[in-house]
Amino acid sequence: MRYAAFMKLVFQFGSHPALSQAELVSRFPNLAHGRLLAERFFVVECSESPAWLMGQLGGVVKILEVVEGLSRKPDELVAHLADHVIRANTARNKVTFGVSIVNASEFKGLGIALKREIQAQTDRPVRSVISRDPILSSASVQLEKLLPPDGVDLTILKDSSDVVACQTVAVQPFDEWSFRDYGRPGRDAKRGMLPPKLAKIMINLAQGAMESSSSAVYDPFCGSGTVLTEAALMNFGRVFGSDILKQAVDDTKASLAWARTQFGLDATEFDVFKHDASARAQHLKPASIDFVASEPFLGRPLKKGEALSASEKNALVALYNKTLRALAPAMKQDCRLVFSLPFQITPRELLPLHEIIAETGFTIDPLLPEQKTLLYMRSDQRTGRQIVRLVRNA
Ligand SMILES: C[S@@+](CC[C@H](N)C(=O)[O-])C[C@H]1O[C@@H](n2cnc3c(N)ncnc32)[C@H](O)[C@@H]1O
Repeated sequence: MRYAAFMKLVFQFGSHPALSQAELVSRFPNLAHGRLLAERFFVVECSESPAWLMGQLGGVVKILEVVEGLSRKPDELVAHLADHVIRANTARNKVTFGVSIVNASEFKGLGIALKREIQAQTDRPVRSVISRDPILSSASVQLEKLLPPDGVDLTILKDSSDVVACQTVAVQPFDEWSFRDYGRPGRDAKRGMLPPKLAKIMINLAQGAMESSSSAVYDPFCGSGTVLTEAALMNFGRVFGSDILKQAVDDTKASLAWARTQFGLDATEFDVFKHDASARAQHLKPASIDFVASEPFLGRPLKKGEALSASEKNALVALYNKTLRALAPAMKQDCRLVFSLPFQITPRELLPLHEIIAETGFTIDPLLPEQKTLLYMRSDQRTGRQIVRLVRNA
């Protein structure tokens, strides 16, 4: 989907910026030349529609457009921005705007200065939304109606030398994400709660630039069906999965049926069956899988202060290794597989990847040029997830 012409967009990444960047440049390799500002703002020339791009990605919270032709001097900037905000507020008489300042302490009073300047330039009523946090959340932008033509959400970004003024043009649909997370049947806290956004990031990392509608995606540990439900919503031609537990198979089927009804998915073929991922799958046809995205079995749920024993970790390594061997014949050449593997957060202990992939025909496919794998963790959890992408090249 094309936007009017090439324009400079800024992708604001979520809680795990490196993972979001890896997702973006995997799915859209033509954007890889972009530049990262202030750790989570990725600036790049782009011709796609921001709203469409937002729908494709799990790790981007806002997409901003660079407001061109602005002076870098704070005084002149205020006059230019006031004019911009007034002209962009076309839906209502009231002029509404929000401001976020990133890394630019000299612009701290910009919100107040801007409101005064707008009042000086127009008789229209003015409403400013200024958050306590340095950056207005995507939810606030949506709830406060700060997207054009109802309002303007400005972000002033400063890197070592550059000052860039941007306005938000798309935000992640937080209410839809929450519906997909909590509204879905078959969620099971005991089997682990893979956030749907992370599931989508993993699918994008595996899919790359490949076309969705003709591709088959497989999850050999389908659990409650988080990955497969996201894949179904992304319109893959064939979405299939398996689990060793009948209950998980039933949960995934229920989740996919829910997605079919809620989102009217007709084109996707679903298939979910009971199967031990580490055993050779007779019913998986050779070279029938385009890619795999899965959060596999993570080990037993841990109580407070507990850790997996060495033998439990060895058992996981052996399970993953056997699963890769069993999967290899069913995967197409150059087919990519993305796993989220468990790791102990404190003290930091990762599973031995070289043992997991030993003699499987898979090699590690780095997620970013400088980072082979990436970590995903939340402060309230003891087990994190190591996101690993493998490619089958033998
Ligand atoms: C963390 S959950 C999977 C989450 C899932 N990928 C999702 O998207 O919701 C792990 C699942 O692995 C299943 N499992 C454990 N051992 C297995 C095996 N050998 N083969 C297949 N599934 C297995 C468990 O029953 C559990 O449902």
